Amino acid sequence: MRIAHLASEVMPFSKTGGLADVVGALPPALVALGQEVTVVVPGHRTTLRDPLPGEPRGEVAALGLTARLNVVLHRNVRVVLLDCPALYVRPALYSLPDGDFPDNAVRFAFFARAALAALAKLGGADVVHAHDWQAALVPFLLRHEGQTRFAMPAAKTVFTIHNLAYQGAFPPWVLEACGISRELFTMDLLEFYGSANFLKGGLVSADAITTVSPTYAREILTPEFGCGLQGVLATRRDTLFGILNGLDTEEWDPRRDPHLELPFGEEEDDVIEGKAAARRLLGREAKLVAGERPLIGMVSRLAEQKGADLLAASLDEIVGMGFDVVVLGAGERRYEEALRGAEAAHPGRVAAFIRFDERLAHRIYAASDLLLMPSRYEPCGLGQMIAMRYGTLPVVTCTGGLADTVVDAGEDGGTGFVLQELTPAALTEALARARAVLSNPVRLATMRATGMARDFSWTASAREYVKLYEQLVG
Ligand code: ADP
Ligand code: GLC
Repeated sequence: MRIAHLASEVMPFSKTGGLADVVGALPPALVALGQEVTVVVPGHRTTLRDPLPGEPRGEVAALGLTARLNVVLHRNVRVVLLDCPALYVRPALYSLPDGDFPDNAVRFAFFARAALAALAKLGGADVVHAHDWQAALVPFLLRHEGQTRFAMPAAKTVFTIHNLAYQGAFPPWVLEACGISRELFTMDLLEFYGSANFLKGGLVSADAITTVSPTYAREILTPEFGCGLQGVLATRRDTLFGILNGLDTEEWDPRRDPHLELPFGEEEDDVIEGKAAARRLLGREAKLVAGERPLIGMVSRLAEQKGADLLAASLDEIVGMGFDVVVLGAGERRYEEALRGAEAAHPGRVAAFIRFDERLAHRIYAASDLLLMPSRYEPCGLGQMIAMRYGTLPVVTCTGGLADTVVDAGEDGGTGFVLQELTPAALTEALARARAVLSNPVRLATMRATGMARDFSWTASAREYVKLYEQLVG
């Protein structure tokens, strides 16, 4: 089958979070199963001087703008970068700490249109697989706009929800600039509580809907996690599937991680030595006071979802319990400030790196004893899987993909610590249990080995996607 993945970010060309990891790793896994895969993404760059990779392959037009197509073969996947400087040369992908770019509706309506035009020009696809609100107009336009459908009449569509809270909801007046007819602004299509809701458009239009873990697939049907869309999702529950994300095991491999001082395999002595080397390196970089204290790491977008406020509120106690803490994150200003404040309050014990830094992320996963992910909700989460692969025990809330991937230390095959509720008390209780394990070398080695031996590769999940594509194509 010819499969096309359309998304707003992809590793190694652009990234704000796990979406880029998934769109970077699922396609090569599909190629390994014999599929032909194209990925189409915006050609994001920060200045006009940064060159976009790839060979020029003509251009497409939409909404009075043009995008040049830059095509690059990466891991046997054809990646098409849409070069449209007016929309995609920005200091960030979607937003600055104070808020979203005001033209995001047009930026991603253009993306949907230009990506479909690019696909048609490059020969079409049997399955068009779109991700998150930024690509949600893809299935919508293919189903409801005659001339768009006409360019690829046989294509089936899959829409994957990576995060239901980000919906791309705009005032209805943006529709005109997006080239969308007012006739499509109805209760059963784009309209949602008075807004033009791109995500809803995708949900009501795709042939199949998936999300990134079985637990989140169930959670989003409830008012607590449905972000208002649980009723819309209920109408599609027969075609809603939870397929757990895999990990890009080439990118995240402690045995050959170029960012580590001493890469390490699964042998217990190797793990201990490799992690100690990573800890020394990070300790210097983070200006931590030298010592043998256990280290808690956190690598995260700083958003309400991720529970960074809980960490900030609990830091005095966590430091008092004898942990050092290193946080790497960027996002909303209030969390950035809280973490900077915590660093100032605990010099040498708490380090806050407020930025996006791939290299440092690798070092933190390797150097930490515990990785903290106190998420309010988590569609899948990759950090906990990366942690386990690097011999780091995740401390997580019991939600979404975290619940599907981390087994609590109190159970057989334990690989981490699961908080039953998101409170400072639950966090300190879990950290007290973790501290006991960290000071017990035999239990620690068992839990680490169990986590490191888990198979988080994409193979099994890629097979599930192929099965779904085959059902749709018939
Ligand atoms: P989400 O997609 O909701 O942000 P995931 O756990 O699925 O959460 O994926 C997050 C990905 O982004 C991981 O690969 C993580 O290492 C990475 N990441 C998050 N914040 C940063 C940062 N500040 N610097 C580098 N990598 C980061
Ligand atoms: C989203 C979710 C995260 C998931 C990622 C990749 O950003 O917040 O849980 O792992 O997408 O699917």
